[in-house]
This record gives sequence, C-alpha cells and structure tokens, in this order.
Amino acid sequence: MAGTDVFTEIVDGEQVYKYYADGEWKKSASGKSVSIVNPTTRKPQYKVQACTQEEVNKVMEAAKAAQKLWARTPLWKRAEYLHKAAAILKEHKAPIAECLVKEIAKPAKDAVTEVVRSGDLVSYTAEEGVRILGEGKLLVSDSFPGNERSKYCLSSKVPLGVVLAIPPFNYPVNLAVSKIAPALIAGNSLVLKPPTQGAVAALHMIQCFHLAGFPKGLISCVTGKGSEIGDFLTMHPGVNCISFTGGDTGIAISKKAGMIPLQMELGGKDACIVLEDADLDLVASNIVKGGYSYSGQRCTAVKVVLVMESVADAVVEKVEAKMAKLSVGSPEDDCDITPVVSESSANFIEGLVMDAKEKGATFCQEYRREGNLIWPLLLDHVRPDMRIAWEEPFGPVLPVIRISSVEEGIHHCNASNFGLQGCVFTRDINKAIMISDVMETGTVQINSAPARGPDHFPFQGLKDSGIGSQGITNSINMMTKIKSTVINLPSPSYTMG
Ligand code: G3H
Repeated sequence: MAGTDVFTEIVDGEQVYKYYADGEWKKSASGKSVSIVNPTTRKPQYKVQACTQEEVNKVMEAAKAAQKLWARTPLWKRAEYLHKAAAILKEHKAPIAECLVKEIAKPAKDAVTEVVRSGDLVSYTAEEGVRILGEGKLLVSDSFPGNERSKYCLSSKVPLGVVLAIPPFNYPVNLAVSKIAPALIAGNSLVLKPPTQGAVAALHMIQCFHLAGFPKGLISCVTGKGSEIGDFLTMHPGVNCISFTGGDTGIAISKKAGMIPLQMELGGKDACIVLEDADLDLVASNIVKGGYSYSGQRCTAVKVVLVMESVADAVVEKVEAKMAKLSVGSPEDDCDITPVVSESSANFIEGLVMDAKEKGATFCQEYRREGNLIWPLLLDHVRPDMRIAWEEPFGPVLPVIRISSVEEGIHHCNASNFGLQGCVFTRDINKAIMISDVMETGTVQINSAPARGPDHFPFQGLKDSGIGSQGITNSINMMTKIKSTVINLPSPSYTMG
C-alpha cells in the first residue's frame, strides 16, 4: 500500500523515496540512495535519497526564511494547521503502519497504535500551545529592593528559530511528531532527519503535514547517511535547537553542538524493584509487558528486575508462565515478539546473553535465535559482574537480580549511568514514596511498568539518559525563549490621586 494514492508523489520511478524540501518532494543531486533492510526478511525493502550537504544548506536557508513569516502567523491559525495534519495522519494510519511493520518489524496492531497516538499528540499539542503560549507574565519593579513602581515588565514566549528533530528507529513517527508539533505551534520551523530504519514511515507522516498545507520551507525532511550529513546537520550554524532521541550518539552531539538548547533522551536501564508485600500477579504482568513489548526495544522497557529474595521464586515462576504465552514470529502476524531491528543489534544482544551464561546466570528458557528473531528470555540469578546487569540490550532478554534488602536494589539502580525511569511494586504507599524519592531516575512508576505516556506527562532522564524534559507542555516551553518588554514610566505609577 505504501507509495499509492496520496503517497504516489513521495516516491520516484525507481522506487526510491524522495526527500522533502521547500514544500516539494525532491530527488537528491547525489544520485545515490540508502537501502533499508526489512528486519524480518533481512532483505532490502525500501530506498531513500542520500541527501548532500549542499541540499542540507538549502533546507536550512528555506527553514530560516519560512520561520520568520510563521512566527507572525496567528497562534490560532498555527493550531488549525496542526489539527488538520493530525486528522490526515489518522486517516492514513494503515499505509503508515504498513511501513512500520516492514521497516522496523513493529507488530501490526502496535504500528497502527503508534500512528493514532501520534495524531492525538499533534492535536493535544495544538490545544496546549494555544493555552500556554497565549499567556505571558507581568512583573512590577517595586518588589525588588531600591525600586519604585516605575517599571512594568511584560514577558512572553517567542520561538527559537529552526528546530532540528532527530527521532529514533523505534518510534519513527511518534517520536518525530513529539518534536515537530511543539516546534511548529511555538512558531519555529522544523528540519527532520529520520532514522534510516523508519525513514519511509516518517516520509509518509511528513506527506500528511504537506497535505495540511503548511507554508513552503517551514517543514523539511532530509534522509541520508549519518557519515555524510549527520554531524553536518547537528553542527549547522542555521540550527537553533536540537531535539534528539536515540542512543549515546546524543552524548557526542551534545559535545559538538553549539550554544543552543538541547533536548535529549538517550535510553535507560529501567529497574523494577519488587518488595515482599507486592501483588505478585500485578508484578508478573507488568514485567512481561514492560520487558518484552516491542521485543524490549523501548527506552522505557523494564531492563533489570531487582526482587526481594523471599518472593523471587514466586515472581520468576509467574513471569515464566506468562512468557510461555507470548507469540513469537512476524510483525505482519501481530506476534508479541518480532525480529529486532538489525543483525548487529541481534549480535549485541547475543553477546550480553553469552556473557551472562559464561558467568553462571540461570536461563529460565532455552536461548533461541533465528536471524534477527530472538525468543524471549528471562535470566535469573544475574550478578553485578555480568554485563547484562548494567548494559541496555534493547531486545527481549531480561535479567533478574535477587536482593536481600531494598537498599541493595536502590543501590543497584543508582549505580547505573542511566537514569530514565524505574518502578517499584509494594502495597505500602509510604514506602513507595520514600523509594521514589531516593531513586535517581527522571520518573518512578508505583505499581506499574515504566512508560513515557500519556504524552502530556513530563518525561525526562537523569545522568546519561538525557538533558531537559519532554512531554507536550515541557517540549513547547523548551522550544521557546522568554522575551521581555519593559515599560519605563517617568515617575512611579501610584503617585496620582
Ligand atoms: O523508546 C523510547 C520511548 O520514549 C518510549 O516510549 O514508553 O511510550 O514506549 P514508550
């Protein structure tokens, strides 16, 4: 279905997807393309343009010019465009979801959910933008020592300029619009560099924004090799803000980027701490959902279980029973466990599994892999000297560390270089709050697996997990700066009468 109907113009005669610049779909002057391998078949599925640095320069120039006019477009009108894009996106959920299935092996139903969630996110952002950007602040001078009431400061939020959005492969549509919509409602222009796996879904999503009628040059999408345009984009003088989600490339970007605001989300090693008084059925279902949905390829997946020794056998048994019901196979068949995104990713996961095996972890199931497909695996009796205790597999393999005190669990969680989310299971809310306060993570979920959504909740990572906070409201605010206008009166304003 991809490439048909309203999407015909985004692909050329040789079935290479075009890039989007100046309100048009274009072929790169490089004459080169980048191939996208289907993780399930391991054969080339799509091709996208390999854009050149010169093309990036042109996109940046157009983005700068378009932003000036867009910032003067009334806020209600910007919101109207976004609502239109959201509706078109949802209307075309099927062909976009099909790309997600083929490019990143997302299970069919989850792929549709990603697109629908994205449409909702865009609409909510439009509404939230109208609310929070329509307000400013008035300050008077006489609250500060030595001042009379002779200065009135009006402060409001204004756009930053050009926002560069770099989403990851696992949510190429949703984590793209979570950057695009706040940027646009706040009056910025937007340049998208989609991940290679997921680029075609992202290009389809961009066509929905094109059909909504946004001004030319305001939104662009460049595809290509990171080695050719990656650093060139992130270090480009025309960029005024970078919003990035992905791996530790983000750390390198943050070191190279200039003096511009950065929003970064770089993964996690989310701990699930299980106390003795927890509801163990609830624990088991959350470990399975949190650890294995989309085959563990979520930054917020449960990535280490820290369970009190006295309930560990029961938890492992319940988790194993639920894991036995997970279907393993192709994303087209909507299986729970589908191939991981690439062969190198599968090899990395296997390396962590083998390291744990050599060091004596107990395998609750037999380790099985065919191509990029890895069967779900629970590793019990993992110890801190094993790599899997600390590293992020981004796959369907989950370590269990048995702990003899809550403090031991907290210590393990806080010793990680990541700090995205964590969760704690207990019936004692007082204890849960104390544990939440001491866990060094951006969010702690009480009695549920970690998750980013609902999408208007604040979402942030500490340490190597990121910079800044996301969530709809925080992203809009982050993509603005404060502008003040001060009215200076010749004499204090309260002297009349
Ligand atoms: O992979 C990173 C995402 O931000 C996780 O989002 O919790 O909705 O799966 P999610």
